[in-house]
Amino acid sequence: MARLSIFVVLLLVFISLANAASEDQSEEPGVYIVYMGGKGSSTPGTLRDDQAQIMNSFLKRDAVVQVYKHGFTGFAAHMSKDEADLIAQEPGVVSVSRDKMIKLSTTRSWSFLKLQHYLDNPIPETEFHRSKVHGAETIIGLVDSGIWPESRSFNDKGMGPIPKRWKGTCQETEDFRASSCNRKLIGARYFMSINKTSRDFAGHGSHTSSTAAGAPVPGVSYYGLAGGTAVGGSPKSRIAMYKACYLGGCDESAILAAMDTAIHDGVDILSLSIGKPAFITTDISKDLLAVGAFHAVEHGIMVVFAGGNSGPQLSSVSNYVPWMTTVAASTIDRHIYANVVLGTNQVIKGGGFQFSSLSASPIYPLIDGVSAKIRSHNITDRLARNCQPGSIDSSKVKGHIILCFNEIGDDPFDRIEDMINKGALGAIMVDDDFKIQSIDLLYENKTFPRTFISSKDGNAVLSYIKSNRNPTATIGRSATSIGFKPAPAVAYFSSRGPSFFTHNLLKPDITAPGVNIIAAWTRASTEFGIPGQAPPDYVVVSGTSMATPHIAAVAALIKSQHPTWDHSAIRSAIMTTAVQTCSDGSPILKFPGSQVATPYDFGAGHVNIGQVMDPGLVYETSMTDYYFFLCNYGYNLSTIKLIAKTIPEGFSCPKNANTALISNMNYPSIAIANFKKNTERKVTRTVKNVGDEDEAVYEVTVDAPEHLNVQVIPETLHFTQEYQKLSYDVKFSTKYSFDSDIFGWITWSNGKYRVRSPFALSLTERSIR
Ligand SMILES: *[C@@H]1O[C@H](CO)[C@@H](O)[C@H](O)[C@H]1NC(C)=O
Ligand SMILES: *[C@@H]1O[C@H](CO)[C@@H](O)[C@H](O)[C@H]1NC(C)=O
Ligand SMILES: *[C@@H]1O[C@H](CO)[C@@H](O)[C@H](O)[C@H]1NC(C)=O
Ligand SMILES: *[C@@H]1O[C@H](CO)[C@@H](O)[C@H](O)[C@H]1NC(C)=O
Repeated sequence: MARLSIFVVLLLVFISLANAASEDQSEEPGVYIVYMGGKGSSTPGTLRDDQAQIMNSFLKRDAVVQVYKHGFTGFAAHMSKDEADLIAQEPGVVSVSRDKMIKLSTTRSWSFLKLQHYLDNPIPETEFHRSKVHGAETIIGLVDSGIWPESRSFNDKGMGPIPKRWKGTCQETEDFRASSCNRKLIGARYFMSINKTSRDFAGHGSHTSSTAAGAPVPGVSYYGLAGGTAVGGSPKSRIAMYKACYLGGCDESAILAAMDTAIHDGVDILSLSIGKPAFITTDISKDLLAVGAFHAVEHGIMVVFAGGNSGPQLSSVSNYVPWMTTVAASTIDRHIYANVVLGTNQVIKGGGFQFSSLSASPIYPLIDGVSAKIRSHNITDRLARNCQPGSIDSSKVKGHIILCFNEIGDDPFDRIEDMINKGALGAIMVDDDFKIQSIDLLYENKTFPRTFISSKDGNAVLSYIKSNRNPTATIGRSATSIGFKPAPAVAYFSSRGPSFFTHNLLKPDITAPGVNIIAAWTRASTEFGIPGQAPPDYVVVSGTSMATPHIAAVAALIKSQHPTWDHSAIRSAIMTTAVQTCSDGSPILKFPGSQVATPYDFGAGHVNIGQVMDPGLVYETSMTDYYFFLCNYGYNLSTIKLIAKTIPEGFSCPKNANTALISNMNYPSIAIANFKKNTERKVTRTVKNVGDEDEAVYEVTVDAPEHLNVQVIPETLHFTQEYQKLSYDVKFSTKYSFDSDIFGWITWSNGKYRVRSPFALSLTERSIR
């Protein structure tokens, strides 16, 4: 059972390719999503004529599962493969795809982080919260697993009346009364065909909601860990929950219905900690998360998505279309430690989550895997050194703390499970890159004493064992420390670029705290409870799921300060003010203990809330830019006309449309695929003056590796008016053969503002799997 649970949680990452691919091919009847583009009926809220006609026979047989009619047009229904193929031929239909089960991008642990903890230029919390409006009037919609409305994080003390423009509702069920909503939680709806209630039984949705906009709740902790005040990043924003996920995952058809309804209801920001694997489809019209997001953006909503937890492999990033803001996860300076004390009283630093009840004195016998090896011809020392299941003799390990290395790479929790079953008192696990300890909280057994240490320390423990007749040790109960350095680092699990989809667009966009985040939880799950104690109402977890609502919150704050800014100006502000260094000046790493991060790891860098409100210049990306993107990606004008709500008069695809032109989209970062020596590549960008002075002179600085020529023309931008737009070109060339992708930065500065964009020049066109 324990193993199963761990696997369920680890696999929450994303739907597996095997599943999705084979499902798509299935001849069996099933639910298909018929997507009919962004044009609605002329009478809002009614069905488009061709939609009504196609749906008619399905309505008659009671086969319709979802209807999309607010932000875009379509439906989901039970049908045969033949019917699906036939419908796909209908003129008004853009795509027909089989419904998929999508997993929540949670996994691993998260703890709450106080905003100022990750500020590069710390500003006192008070000052930040005094800043004009702190999110008032912005509505953050979350598509997630529901919400626990009674949580203290969703109290509405001090909140003004609900904005008049709000059209959402609090959908009533036996376990979720209309009175469960208030001025903080202003809407809650559900879309799943099973578990028809907005109540959260998984915890994920309560956590993301409270991270985004939870009210301040002092004195929370997870059984004493990560204690402090839990408060959302935009504590005055309103929350609207769209439940499309359940413990087992989410139906794509339900997510789409949630987004369609959120468009109708009038949310400002949509936060989705959900994703499919990076490489599932390259046909955007069949990636229905991308489709839903496209129409939300058409309706003026900013859409923030998790980048996924499939790192650190390259090209693992999900949710990579340009109209989404894609979020990576990073560590904060809060560390959950669990130290080892050896018989010599030497303290070895370790990390992990457990509520050990061992004595603080090092009185327990200590053994290494090889010494505890089972007597068998086929068990090697290597297996035993790593405590592989089946390699350890229970009579030797019983009553001992055991040291296990991590050189084989199998599931550490299988090995821990085996040690528990064999009667071990505790386990010291080697884990160099914080890979395991960041997910340790998910392990079902919260009381078995364990800790994760570096291999250097592992060798020290081993030599202590070898040089003593009766080696002893103890493992301390986990505790919290603040000020852990270096922080931030990108989280080990955070999905990486370059996008599988095209190397002409950089993804992820930004990184935000996503490790050890404490926030509200469901009271209906014992998963994170410890035996003999009430289930926790605040839980510490990690994932890009947790990073995503941080960015949604920051976006809400910017939106309330600058109500006229569209999603792209807000995203630009977040990206161009981001930082690439830790507070001690050291560079942000790919993951703790690794190398310096590149834009493939964190996009523009780590969100810097000290600057986001006032970026100086912004890069705006319009719907027309996205239509051109679709042209360049390979869609023809008739398909784009079907997809788009309204297309500008006279719009047509460029004659020379091709993927290389995607690089030219007015995005706050630059990515170029297929970069070759002796071939100059040029991109153009346009910036808008949103600084506090009408007149401003910006000078460019380029950070580029040796042998790369980067020419910015002009090198000075002289603004004379507020909102004035000026353009510049960047030319990249080299005579040198680089053997890996090339990164650098282009920074515009006028002394007051620093507007920084990453560039990534890829030697290849697209990632092949
Ligand atoms: C939803 O799921 C939870 C947890 O499995 C269960 O307790 C609850 O009764 C379900 N509610 C509905 C309406 O299906
Ligand atoms: C070792 O051999 C025994 C029988 O001789 C077998 O049961 C066991 O599965 C083998 N273990 C491994 C790891 O191959
Ligand atoms: C956790 O481990 C302890 C041994 O430390 C064991 O007694 C207990 O049964 C385990 N609990 C679960 C839920 O596996
Ligand atoms: C546009 O593309 C669609 C889908 O590939 C195709 O069916 C259609 O014939 C194309 N239309 C034109 C005018 O080329």
